[in-house]
Amino acid sequence: MKTERLGHYVSNKNERTYVCFYSDHLALSPAYPSFLHGVAEMVESGAGYGMTFWKDDECQTMYVRDITDGEPGPVVASTVFRHVAEQSYIWIEMTSVNKDHRGQRLYQFMHEYYEALAKRWGVKKLSGNVNVNNIASVKQRESVGFKTRLLVQDKIIK
Ligand SMILES: CC(C)(COP(=O)(O)OP(=O)(O)OC[C@H]1O[C@@H](n2cnc3c(N)ncnc32)[C@H](O)[C@@H]1OP(=O)(O)O)[C@@H](O)C(=O)NCCC(=O)NCCS
Repeated sequence: MKTERLGHYVSNKNERTYVCFYSDHLALSPAYPSFLHGVAEMVESGAGYGMTFWKDDECQTMYVRDITDGEPGPVVASTVFRHVAEQSYIWIEMTSVNKDHRGQRLYQFMHEYYEALAKRWGVKKLSGNVNVNNIASVKQRESVGFKTRLLVQDKIIK
């Protein structure tokens, strides 16, 4: 498994220091429990798909640790993705920030490294599904420049 320290960030809101890491294997990385908690929360909130949507051995991850108190603390945020090299895109499966650390721009912090990885790998596009009812997720993606390309439409038969 390959792990790389990507960089650090100090939130000017809660004054905590965070470090972002990359791992090429989701299930063997320290991000895995945080990712699974994020999936559970999303399903409970009604924004999930009602099915398993990721493949452990194809997914890579970036994850954030709080290092304010010295040694790297627990993982407080993670984003899970696949690099589809043949078609030159990165597919974002799931991004999750621990409730105690939301609103600190940790999503934006991780997103910077998506752009860096895309440049490193010669990738032209970042993509992913978002439930339109998941306002925080829609807004966070719009805040870094994502545009909606597809809409899934339903009609409820009464
Ligand atoms: C969505 C989520 C990852 C956002 O993480 P975050 O670190 O709190 O987001 P950031 O602080 O980086 O916010 C970036 C921007 O997103 C938008 N945003 C984030 N949370 C928002 C909310 N609750 N309501 C409206 N806009 C929001 C804002 O535009 C914000 O920019 P601003 O700080 O200038 O206002 C987090 O709320 C989360 O983990 N939710 C549960 C899991 C989930 O639904 N993941 C998405 C499925 S892929």
